[in-house]
Amino acid sequence: MKRVDDFRLKLGKDELVPIMIGGMGVDISTAELALVAARLGGIGHISDAMVQDVSDRRFDTSFVKEKTKFYKYNINNSDKTDIKFNLDQLAEATRLHVGKTMEAKQGSGMIFVNCMEKLTMNGPRETLKVRLESSLDAGIDGITMSAGLHLGSFGLIADHPRFRDAKLGIIVSSVRALQLFLRKNSRLNRLPDYVIVEGPLAGGHLGFGLDWAEYDLQTIITEIVQFLKAENLDIPLIAAGGIFTGSDAVSFMENGAAGVQVATRFTVTKECGLPNSVKQEYFKASEGDIEVNNISPTGYPMRMLKNTPAIGDGIRPGCESYGYLLDGNGNCAYITSYNREVAANPDAKKVSVMDKTCLCTHMRNFNCWTCGQTTYRLKDTTRKLADGTYELLSAEHVFRDYQFSVDHQIALPV
Ligand SMILES: Cc1cc2nc3c(=O)[nH]c(=O)nc-3n(C[C@H](O)[C@H](O)[C@H](O)COP(=O)(O)O)c2cc1C
Repeated sequence: MKRVDDFRLKLGKDELVPIMIGGMGVDISTAELALVAARLGGIGHISDAMVQDVSDRRFDTSFVKEKTKFYKYNINNSDKTDIKFNLDQLAEATRLHVGKTMEAKQGSGMIFVNCMEKLTMNGPRETLKVRLESSLDAGIDGITMSAGLHLGSFGLIADHPRFRDAKLGIIVSSVRALQLFLRKNSRLNRLPDYVIVEGPLAGGHLGFGLDWAEYDLQTIITEIVQFLKAENLDIPLIAAGGIFTGSDAVSFMENGAAGVQVATRFTVTKECGLPNSVKQEYFKASEGDIEVNNISPTGYPMRMLKNTPAIGDGIRPGCESYGYLLDGNGNCAYITSYNREVAANPDAKKVSVMDKTCLCTHMRNFNCWTCGQTTYRLKDTTRKLADGTYELLSAEHVFRDYQFSVDHQIALPV
């Protein structure tokens, strides 16, 4: 019976343990978590979501405070057109977050940064270019382009000296998305080094509609394998979404995948950035406590726990401090919903907004409990303690369990 460790992921000349820990913003996939994967020979992701805030927390910088001060005059204005990111500060925060992580890296594995296109930051092209370039400048091993089609993203960094040496990959949820990406980038003569195929059971934003349950990861992978074969293209595919045991991973690797990307099992590790109280919510969840809804202003469905504090909360939009989802014209779907509720309830001290959420503020405060569909199985991966809480795991324990387990076994902590 095969184990994940019987396989290796080849990225160019490099050979890795074929396990990637997926990017989880905002700082849920911390540097500490990514560093464990790299030390053990796999690939860890940090995320550049809300990087100025992450830098403030990690390095005591004051990017958010300065931005808030700068735009204070606009806080009660529903028009957010003025709120722009200072590109020098964005570059500095990214270089700090990425650079300090890379300095601490040990082992033969790699660290990538997850870069979401949907963080349009009221200036989609220029902010994305700065984010990508600064990560490359700071020595990141690779960039995973996520949450968006990224049709122009490779072009934004085509002149960067590391464009052909850094590992560049994209996340897709269909063969069509990959075809479109390859067509739009053909003139650059630079294929992605890997493609993560994310199925409907993943955490975070989904590349499917609310009919997600009608899709199946293995079917999508098989379609992509056939397409790549027909085109004579050799790009490693990484399966993601709902892979809970080493045996699940082996099954995908025996059927077209070169590796796996996993995340949910790492949300209850000590190294994960979620507060301990939230990790306990993940442990406690049953299958009926998980839903896919449309409250993210990005327009993509998102999976989360139903008792997520963000649902229904009518907080004032925090764009003067954050503004990561402003579309380039000062708009965000949450602002529209919030303004509608305020207009309908002029005397209310606080409104409730059900259809959208202020994702920046709530992700930043760990109040939007996004999770994978297998979250309800996390309680089976550890012990319940005398006080009724669940024991947190070490990331190394979970990584090695994926790497060495057979027969769908899950090793409990010793
Ligand atoms: C808490 C959480 C946050 C996530 N955030 C992001 C994100 O910011 N960007 C992204 O591309 N994927 C995100 N994902 C998706 C993961 O990177 C990964 O592809 C997926 O969850 C793997 O499936 P699994 O959780 O069933 O193992 C997130 C997943 C979780 C569980």
